[in-house]
Amino acid sequence: MSATALPNATLTAAYEAMTPGSAKLSAQARAVLPSGLAHDSRHFDPYPLYVSRAKGPVKWDVDGNRYVDYFGGHGSLILGHNNPTVMTAVHAALDNGTHFGACHEAEVRWAELITRMVPSAERVRFTSSGTEATLMALRLSRAFTGRDKLIRFRGHFHGWHDHMSNGYSNHFDGSAATGVLDGIASGILLCDPNDSEGLTRLFNDHKDIAGVILEPTGASFGKMPLRQDFLTLLRDLTRQSGAILIFDEVVTGFRVSPGGAQQAIGITPDLTTLAKILSGGLPGGAVVGRKDILDLLDFDVTKAAGREKIGHQGTFNANPVSAAAGIATLGIIASTDACARANAYAETLRARLNEVLEDEHLRWAVYGSYAGFHIFTNPTDADIVPSRFDPIPFVADMIGKPRGAGVNGQIRMGLLVNGVDVNSGPSGWISATHGEEEMAITVDAFRATIRALKREGTVA
Ligand SMILES: Cc1ncc(COP(=O)(O)O)c(C=O)c1O
Repeated sequence: MSATALPNATLTAAYEAMTPGSAKLSAQARAVLPSGLAHDSRHFDPYPLYVSRAKGPVKWDVDGNRYVDYFGGHGSLILGHNNPTVMTAVHAALDNGTHFGACHEAEVRWAELITRMVPSAERVRFTSSGTEATLMALRLSRAFTGRDKLIRFRGHFHGWHDHMSNGYSNHFDGSAATGVLDGIASGILLCDPNDSEGLTRLFNDHKDIAGVILEPTGASFGKMPLRQDFLTLLRDLTRQSGAILIFDEVVTGFRVSPGGAQQAIGITPDLTTLAKILSGGLPGGAVVGRKDILDLLDFDVTKAAGREKIGHQGTFNANPVSAAAGIATLGIIASTDACARANAYAETLRARLNEVLEDEHLRWAVYGSYAGFHIFTNPTDADIVPSRFDPIPFVADMIGKPRGAGVNGQIRMGLLVNGVDVNSGPSGWISATHGEEEMAITVDAFRATIRALKREGTVA
C-alpha cells in the first residue's frame, strides 16, 4: 500500500487512518518505555511512525506505507539505506564474530582511512557514540591546557552528557539542567552564535578557557548558520589564547565533503568529533586530532613525559562490525562523488520547494547548505522572498524554539500523509541515492501539505 493523502480528512485523521500498526505499537511501547521512545527527537503527536524496513532513499512502515526518507538514520546514511557494498562488508564481518575482546585489523584500516580523509586527524581514538566523542574531546582539552572553562554556542547540540546539557534547548542562562551538578554547568560559558563581540569579550574576561566546541556549519546542520568571518575569528582567538578548537563533525563529517566541514570551510580545528557516517549506519564514534593532544591517551608518551594518562575504556569501541561498515562507507565516499551528488540534489530540492512556496504565495523558505534542508515558517511574518532567503538575521530567534510542535508538527504530518518523512526541524538529511523520482514525490507532497494546511486554516 502506498501513502496517499485523504483529501477531505484532516491531516491527523489521515495519518491515523493509514498507520493503525504504529498506533498499536506506540500504545504497547508506552507501557515499557518513557513516552514510548528511545530518542527524544522521535517524539511525535499523536504517536510516532514505526518502521519495518528501508532501502536506498525510501522506507516502509509497519502498515506497508512507503516514504521517501529524509530522516536518513539521524544523518548517518549518506549512502542511503542498505548500500550493497556496505551490507556485504557487514555480513562478512558478522560471520567472523561480533566482538573479539581484542585489537583487530579493521580498526587499524579504519583509522588509517580517517587520517587520510580528515585534515585535522593525526591520531584517532574510537568511542561508541558521538556523545562519548564530545565528552572525551572536552576532557582532552581540559587536560592538555590545564584550564577549566569551555565555551559552547547556544542552540548547538553535542550529545546529552552532563557537560553539554545546558544551552541546547533550555538553560540558556548557563544554569544546570535537572540532574546535573552546578559545578559542571559553571564550567561552561555560553555564547550566542555569530556574536563576535561576545566571543572576544569571553576571551578577554577569562584566561582559563580550555576549549571551544561548535557545530562548524551552525546548529542543527546549518539550520542556524555561522558566518565565515565568525569562524575565522574563532580560529584566531583560540590560537592566540592556546585554547583547543573542537569541531563537532558528528553530522558534517563525511557529509559536507569527504574531509568534512573543515575541508569545505578551509579551517582546521585542533580536535574533531565524529560519529554517524563514520561507522556506516552502525553504532560508533571517534575523537580525532592533533597527536600532541591525543598523546594524553598514550601509555608510553604520558609515562615518558611524567604526565597522568587519561583513562579510556568502552566495550564497543571500534566494534569489528561497525568498523567493517565504516571502512566500506568511507571507502565509497573517498573514491566516488557521493557527497557532491547528495549536495547537488539538496540544492535542486531547496530551489524546487521554494518555487512551490512562491506559487502558493507563502512567505516561508526552504534553505540550508550542503546535503540538507530546513523549512522556515517565518513566525514573525518578515518580508522575505523564499528563493533569496538569508537565515543569518533570524538565527537568534530560532534558538530554543520547540521543534515538531504547532505548524512544524503539521508540516511533518502533511508530508508523512503524502509519503515523505522529514525530521522534527522540520529538516531533512539527503543521501546520494535520492534521485528524480524522490524529488518529484517530495515536491508534490510539499504542495499537497501546504494546500492541506490552508484548508485546515493553519496557514493563510
Ligand atoms: C552535532 C552532534 N554532536 C553530537 C551528537 C551525539 O551523537 P550520538 O547520538 O551518536 O551520541 C549528535 C547527534 O545527533 C550531533 O548531531
